[in-house]
Amino acid sequence: MSSGLRFDRVSVAYGGTTVLDSLDLTVEPGEVMALLGPSGSGKTTALRAVAGFVRPAAGRVFIGDRDVTGLPPHRRGIGMVVQQYALFPHMRVEDNVAFGLKAQKAPKDEIRGRVAEALEMTGMAAYARRHPRELSGGQQQRVAIARALAIRPGVLLLDEPLSALDARLRSGMLSELARLHRELPHVSILYVTHDQVEALTLADRIAVMDKARLQDVGTPRELYRAPRTEFTASFVGNANLLPVTVGSGGVDFSGTELKVPTRDAARGTTATLCVRPHLVGLGAGPNALTGSVIEVQWRGATHRLYIEVAGHRVMADLRELRQPPALGDEITVHFGPEDAVLLSAGVTPERSAPVAVRETVGAADQGSRDG
Ligand SMILES: Nc1ncnc2c1ncn2[C@@H]1O[C@H](COP(=O)(O)OP(=O)(O)OP(=O)(O)O)[C@@H](O)[C@H]1O
Ligand SMILES: [Mg+2]
Repeated sequence: MSSGLRFDRVSVAYGGTTVLDSLDLTVEPGEVMALLGPSGSGKTTALRAVAGFVRPAAGRVFIGDRDVTGLPPHRRGIGMVVQQYALFPHMRVEDNVAFGLKAQKAPKDEIRGRVAEALEMTGMAAYARRHPRELSGGQQQRVAIARALAIRPGVLLLDEPLSALDARLRSGMLSELARLHRELPHVSILYVTHDQVEALTLADRIAVMDKARLQDVGTPRELYRAPRTEFTASFVGNANLLPVTVGSGGVDFSGTELKVPTRDAARGTTATLCVRPHLVGLGAGPNALTGSVIEVQWRGATHRLYIEVAGHRVMADLRELRQPPALGDEITVHFGPEDAVLLSAGVTPERSAPVAVRETVGAADQGSRDG
C-alpha cells in the first residue's frame, strides 16, 4: 500500500499553550522524512497527531487522500515505533508482533504468515518464542519494528527508535532501517530524531522544527549546502556564522573584505555569512582571515581549531595536520568564494538571536557526505 501523508495546517495545544503551530508538511508515498529539532520543539506531538493519540486544535491530517483527523488510531493503517520499545512484557515475541493483526481480527493463517514475514525481515525469526525480558535492547527494538511492519502499514512512524541503544548498535540499526526501507519502497516513513547524523543518513528530506514551528524543509544536501536560516545552518551540520555587512561583490567582516556571492542582498544591510568548518583551509588564499588559536581539538580524522578573528570564534576542521599550532599562535586560514552562503537578512527576530558560533555534536565528518 502506498499512500503518503499530509499535515494541513495542524496545530496542537496543551492547556492553552501551542506546542505545534500550523504545521504544513507533505510526505510523499515511499519517502523518508526526518523531523529534526531540539527537545520540546513539537516532533513527538506531530507524530502523535498522525497516529491519532492527540487531537489537533486546528487543521487536518491526511493519509493518502483520506482525511483521518477524526479516526481512532487503530483505523489509520499506521505502524509506530517509539523510543522505549514498549513491548508487552508478558507476551512472547510472536504474540507481540501479532498484536495489531489480532486487533484487526485478521484470519489465523494470515496472522501466522505475516508474523513470520515481519520477524524474518527484522532478523528475529529465531526468537519468536522468547519473552521481551530475554532479549537485548537492540533485539527488543527489532521486535517493535516487526510489530509495526506486521500490519503492512502505508505509513511508518518512528520516534527516536534508536536513542535507547548504544552508539555501535545505533549505527548498525541505522543500516538495517535503510535496508528495510529498500525492501519496502512504498512505505512512507516519518522519522523523528534530534540526531542530525541519523537524519542525514536516512532521510530523503529533512523537516527542521524549532519552537513548535517548521523552520525549513529540504533534502539533506540542500539544507547542508544552502541553509536558509541560521537555525538550519547550525542544526544541520556545524557552521561558522559570521556577522557581516553586504557590500558590492562581497561582504565586510569586521573590516576585512570577503568575496562571496551576495545574491540579491541589498548593499549596506547586515547579514550572516555561513562557512562550514571543513571548507576552511590553512594558509593564505582568497578570503583570508588571520587570528590567534584559542583551542585545538584532535578528533581522529581531523583537528578542529578555534581561532579568534576580530573578536569572533572561527572553527576550522583540518585534515592531515602533522604539526598542530600551539595555543596563542597567530595563523591565517581561508575559504573559497563559493564555499560561503549568505543567509537571508531579515530573518524573524526569534531566529536572529545571537548565535555567533553554535556547535552541534556528531557532525565532525559530515563534510565527507558532500565531498
Ligand atoms: N501531554 C502533554 N501535556 C502537556 N504538555 C505536553 C504534553 N506532551 C507534550 N507537551 C509539551 O509540548 C511540547 C512539545 O513536546 P514534544 O514531545 O512534541 O517535543 P519533542 O520535539 O518530541 O521533544 P524531545 O526531543 O524532547 O522528545 C513540550 O514543551 C512539552 O512539554
Ligand atoms: Mg519527542
